[in-house]
Amino acid sequence: MTLPPGDEDLIRVASLARARAYAPYSKYKVGAAIRTKRNKIHSGANVENVSYGLTVCAERCAAFAAIASGETKDWDAIAVVIDDDKLPSPCGACRQVLAEFSPELRVVLATAGGLRKVTTLAELLPDAFLPDRLLR
Ligand code: THU
Repeated sequence: MTLPPGDEDLIRVASLARARAYAPYSKYKVGAAIRTKRNKIHSGANVENVSYGLTVCAERCAAFAAIASGETKDWDAIAVVIDDDKLPSPCGACRQVLAEFSPELRVVLATAGGLRKVTTLAELLPDAFLPDRLLR
């Protein structure tokens, strides 16, 4: 599948982040990178913990990095990269956190070996519970 160059750039940044994942327990390293409307890229990797439950996924690390940089909405795309024979699939918690900030987000799923799939957060999390239910 041929993707626009911007998506491949985002995948490259996510792959670099993946190299910095801390995943000694699962050995399942994930990298993520978010491109904002201002064309800035914020990346993250999964960070595990010996107590297991404190683990944070790559997607949420990237989201929190974007937010901490002051970019809190209308992100263009997120790329998620693993090194496996099948594509990654963001967990439910990450889908909900991403939807808080960018329910229309483009989601680019990739493997180090070259598998690619483009979808949207709206497709991954239909009928999402969004801030407009409470913020009015
Ligand atoms: N993980 C992510 O970082 N992103 C996903 O999309 C799924 C799961 C991490 C959490 C944990 O460190 C490891 O992958 C195995 O679940």
